[in-house]
Amino acid sequence: MTWWQDAVVYQIYPRSFADSTGDGLGDLNGVRSRLPYLADLGVNALWLSPFYPSPMADGGYDVSDYCDVDPRFGTLADFDALLAESAARNIRIIVDLVPNHCSDQHPLFQEALTAGPGSPQRERFIFREGRGDAPPNNWVSMFGGPAWTRVEDGEWYLHLFDSSQPDWNWRHPATAPMFEGILRFWLDRGVAGIRVDVAHGLFKDPDLPELIGKHPNDAPSAYYHRPELAAHYRTWRAILDSYPADVFPGQRTAVGEFWGDLPEHVWPYLRQGGLPQLFNFPFLFTPWDPAKLRAIIDESLAASAPVPAAAPWVLGNHDVPRPVTRYGPDLATGTRRARAAALLVFALPGSAYLYQGEELGLPEVLDLPDSVRQDPTFRRTGGARPGRDGCRIPLPWSGTTPPFGFSEGPRSWLPQPADWVNLTVEAETADPASHLNLYRTALALRPSLDTGPFAWLDLGPDVLAFSRGADFVFAANFGTEPVALPDHRKVLLASGEISGSLPPDTSVWLQP
Ligand code: NOJ
Repeated sequence: MTWWQDAVVYQIYPRSFADSTGDGLGDLNGVRSRLPYLADLGVNALWLSPFYPSPMADGGYDVSDYCDVDPRFGTLADFDALLAESAARNIRIIVDLVPNHCSDQHPLFQEALTAGPGSPQRERFIFREGRGDAPPNNWVSMFGGPAWTRVEDGEWYLHLFDSSQPDWNWRHPATAPMFEGILRFWLDRGVAGIRVDVAHGLFKDPDLPELIGKHPNDAPSAYYHRPELAAHYRTWRAILDSYPADVFPGQRTAVGEFWGDLPEHVWPYLRQGGLPQLFNFPFLFTPWDPAKLRAIIDESLAASAPVPAAAPWVLGNHDVPRPVTRYGPDLATGTRRARAAALLVFALPGSAYLYQGEELGLPEVLDLPDSVRQDPTFRRTGGARPGRDGCRIPLPWSGTTPPFGFSEGPRSWLPQPADWVNLTVEAETADPASHLNLYRTALALRPSLDTGPFAWLDLGPDVLAFSRGADFVFAANFGTEPVALPDHRKVLLASGEISGSLPPDTSVWLQP
């Protein structure tokens, strides 16, 4: 077993993690200053969302230079220091690679604009003539509105996301070598792997055909899940595997952000010898329902059978509503369920990803004033879709008023709710029953759990239960009435108070 097959990976959204300069925006030195917290939490690796030079039109997923650090986040020297200090704590770093598109401020896009229609520079992107005054086809942006923007000379360029994020032309001979260079740049610095943004994008049908039916969608189409991806990711896998596995950080990994309308759209990537892992959205989006969860766990385990842990367990990231709100229907119930789900995730075989603030049980912030919203989705849909700012609120660390130790400045880039006073790291550390202490205890116990064969246990329709070897049993009650605890010698951990029986929306780790 290699390190990533049972790792707990903590996702950091750098601008919302910790601010070391007082400007209200998190940064790399903020992450460095909180390494003791992360080590104490017990995570094995950090996935850093983009920190590269960027106009920040999409929170840094609009990259204008793939091989540097945005001054607002620090310097390359700060990154190297973070890497070294993390390594000293046996924590690996995974960086985010954004190959589908760049920022419209990227020098190559600026050159393409200047060079004009018909120039070789324009071929690096997807420029086309329109149909009269209409865009070249009917594709729509994932963030709302058309996927095409017209430039002054009359041509249009394709952007599956914001107009500030032009899509690269992956059929251009220089695109793949450029990204291989970027990949090596970060691997040479010592990162343990990459997260691949919009991994199912990249290649587009060269005919750019009209789409029929519902869209945007994440099903195989003229712009998603193209057959060229299989060979492409095998090339990247060969680069990852060319780095020595026997010294820290060990075998290099990559986790693909593959979205699909159906789970079967994404599982095939695990059979192609390409990226070692995919972010398990099918699990993440499964509602609080024991039969549905059991089915998706079975599917995930089957899909990752050739390479165990290829579909890590995840409850959230910076693009989806936070689990305590998602599991609902109210915050108290949602919080109980999210705690129970956390013990599920950390008991299942394989690796798990958690998103900053999940360990604090932070809710989705639903009442942000329109004036502070920054997600382009909000703007591009005229407010019809609120966007993802609600899960990107800066972390509350300490104290009793915003910015709760996130920054020494007066405010954070997105405002924190004043009632997060009991959700700070400081407050939760002091409360033995807190979300944070549940995560800490679970992650401390996790390495000692029996990792023997996984087998479902049948304890009735409301209970999800399984064993791992002879020494570990997991059980969660999804019903409305308490159920009897399975026979056991010892309760290792419970997500809520248990007294002889297992209450609703509660899970437990047992030694049978
Ligand atoms: C997925 C990223 O996670 C998301 O935050 C971003 O907006 C899109 N890809 C576009 O890069």
